[in-house]
Amino acid sequence: MSGPGPKYVWVDGQVLPADAPHLSVTDRGFQLGDGIFETLRAKAGHCTELPEHVARLHRSAAGLAFELPADVDVRLADGIARLLAAEGLDGPDGDASIRITASRGVWASRGLLPPRDVHLTPTLVIQAWPVEPPPAGHLEHGISLVASAVRRDPQNPIATLKTTSRIDYVYARIEARRAGADDAIFLTITGHLSEATTANIFLVRTAADDVLELATPSLDCAILAGTTRSWLLRWAESVGLRPVEGWLTPDELAAAHEAFVSSSVAGILPVTRFNGHPIGSGLPGPWTRRARADREAVFGQG
Ligand SMILES: Cc1ncc(COP(=O)(O)O)c(C=O)c1O
Repeated sequence: MSGPGPKYVWVDGQVLPADAPHLSVTDRGFQLGDGIFETLRAKAGHCTELPEHVARLHRSAAGLAFELPADVDVRLADGIARLLAAEGLDGPDGDASIRITASRGVWASRGLLPPRDVHLTPTLVIQAWPVEPPPAGHLEHGISLVASAVRRDPQNPIATLKTTSRIDYVYARIEARRAGADDAIFLTITGHLSEATTANIFLVRTAADDVLELATPSLDCAILAGTTRSWLLRWAESVGLRPVEGWLTPDELAAAHEAFVSSSVAGILPVTRFNGHPIGSGLPGPWTRRARADREAVFGQG
């Protein structure tokens, strides 16, 4: 059974009915999770930080040693515009979450190793959904996180790529649901904070020298280099918080004044419980609210 969803999908240059068959079963994305993706937001037909997402798509492809078409940025921008128009999400009130997926392509032979001498054409897909606002409780009361039993290895070269092989993340979400939490946070094999299943994590805290900091796990902590994360590190400086990227511990999360997670689609969401215990006052803090409001002022979305 397929759930309710969009009417159309963009596949390799064409807008097609969403419920038609689109892909070959020999596509390596389907067979092996040999693909990459991006998720972003478009308000009134304008994508937020599209060049940053396309740049990361290229980095993910390079990390898996496959090449995207040279004009992929133009094709994607055109595809997104056509898909949003087909879905009626390009009007002044349009608010869409967009997923771009690129697999290595179709290859009918068995085996893991991609061919060396044959150039596979990546399969490109775009999907768009109306954005559902976060449940009111998430903004008013914050979300709860639990630590996943799945650990992340900072030496793993795949850990920082946005690949379609997401089973660890699916597993962690199921763990969170079982624990009655909203999301899970991965720790590294050294026990440091990494990231949530679809978002980066931030702490507001007072440092030993009494300076208020916005701290987040560094890029070495097996995280995705979030586009919203980059924006927040610049934002911190502009509002007088000292931005810090480092190796943070679960104890530091538990002891923070405030915590929040960040992602392109859901924006900035307060985190008020970790492993069943309140963080700070147990309610969304002023810096979290300000970050969301300031991002909303810039992009029309928090
Ligand atoms: C695992 C993971 N970390 C972090 C992020 C946040 O990245 P961005 O801010 O670019 O959306 C995402 C977003 O999809 C993600 O999947």
